[in-house]
Amino acid sequence: MKGIAHYIEGMADGLVASGYSLDEEWRRVLHAVPRHVFAPSAAWVGRWDGPARLVRRDVDEEAWLRAVYSDVSIVTQFDDGAGALEAGGEDFTSSLSAPGVVVAFLDLLGVRDHQRVLEVGTGTGWTAGLLAWRLGDESVTSVEIDAGVVREARANLRDAGLGPGVVEGDGADGWEAGAPYDRVHVTCGVREVPYAWIRQTRPGGRVVFPWMPGFAFGHRAWLTVTGDGRGIGRFAGNAGYMMLRSQRFGDYAPAVEEDAEPGETRVDPRAVAGESYGCDVAVAGLVPGVTSVEEETGGGCVRLHLRDPDGAWALVDFEPGRDVFPVFQAGPRRLWTEVEAAYLRWLAWGSPSRDRFGMTVTPTGQHLWLDSPDNPITP
Ligand SMILES: C[S@@+](CC[C@H](N)C(=O)[O-])C[C@H]1O[C@@H](n2cnc3c(N)ncnc32)[C@H](O)[C@@H]1O
Repeated sequence: MKGIAHYIEGMADGLVASGYSLDEEWRRVLHAVPRHVFAPSAAWVGRWDGPARLVRRDVDEEAWLRAVYSDVSIVTQFDDGAGALEAGGEDFTSSLSAPGVVVAFLDLLGVRDHQRVLEVGTGTGWTAGLLAWRLGDESVTSVEIDAGVVREARANLRDAGLGPGVVEGDGADGWEAGAPYDRVHVTCGVREVPYAWIRQTRPGGRVVFPWMPGFAFGHRAWLTVTGDGRGIGRFAGNAGYMMLRSQRFGDYAPAVEEDAEPGETRVDPRAVAGESYGCDVAVAGLVPGVTSVEEETGGGCVRLHLRDPDGAWALVDFEPGRDVFPVFQAGPRRLWTEVEAAYLRWLAWGSPSRDRFGMTVTPTGQHLWLDSPDNPITP
């Protein structure tokens, strides 16, 4: 069997070939903090949202190493640890993040020597370990909400010869005792940025996080903290992560067409969610709280599901060959009507791309803007 360095080098080359930015420094860190030390010997390998397959080290070590050193996430906990890891489960609740997105976020974080970093969502401890090797144990604190995950992370980090601070707590509160931070690195998805992260970061410091509003896909986001305590930033790419516990999406009751108000639309529902990241950000900003799922229903048909925590829902059916598409809406708001209006506004702005949008976070909440913080779009 080949040495570990061979696998690590192959992973790093693969990331560069896929377009990720990986400088020599971080490449050295990937060798110094080997990913396999943080992977369970029964590894559920998969995409963050797709089906996972079990690869066991004791059955085929080479296949296990190949999986561990490829650009995939490894699920390390299901259903908040309700059952044995090997048994699998319904929901992914902790993971060893995929190397590509880890490297992309570290690039966005842009750490410099002697900077102090808070990580939210320790998981296996791999990202905390990479940061600790790069900056020193004493410069890194990581907060994890799940006691079992904390124990595993501490053991993994010990095995890797590293000792950043790992604390059990709700990362939505940051970690006051270690503030001020130069960087806050969030490795779970958020819909609303908790203000504690901004408050605990020094002016000029940076907060990076997966912004996952629930409408279409998630976005890699960064905020720079200003002297008057605001976070202002933009979106750098895609990100799909499991959610911060307090911001998870609930289960919605099934939508029953007979209970809904029927209507129709000339807009192709497939164009509204997931076709342009710029449109995704615009709609999420103009209709805060709305979530979307696209479902292929066969024969080229696609059903767009829209939901809101207030109980409103809408279904819109794309059917090939139709001039207009059927719409069903119910609940306290007309969600498709709002989303369609947001889509038409985005078109009227000239279909701006994602990099023209930004976010500002203040003690009273977050809002989105187009081109400049002085041009808010959030209602
Ligand atoms: C995708 S994993 C993190 C991956 C990890 N950074 C790594 O390097 O392997 C997300 C983690 O966030 C944790 N988490 C979720 N909500 C949290 C919260 N409110 N505070 C702290 N951790 C949280 C989950 O328990 C899970 O372990």
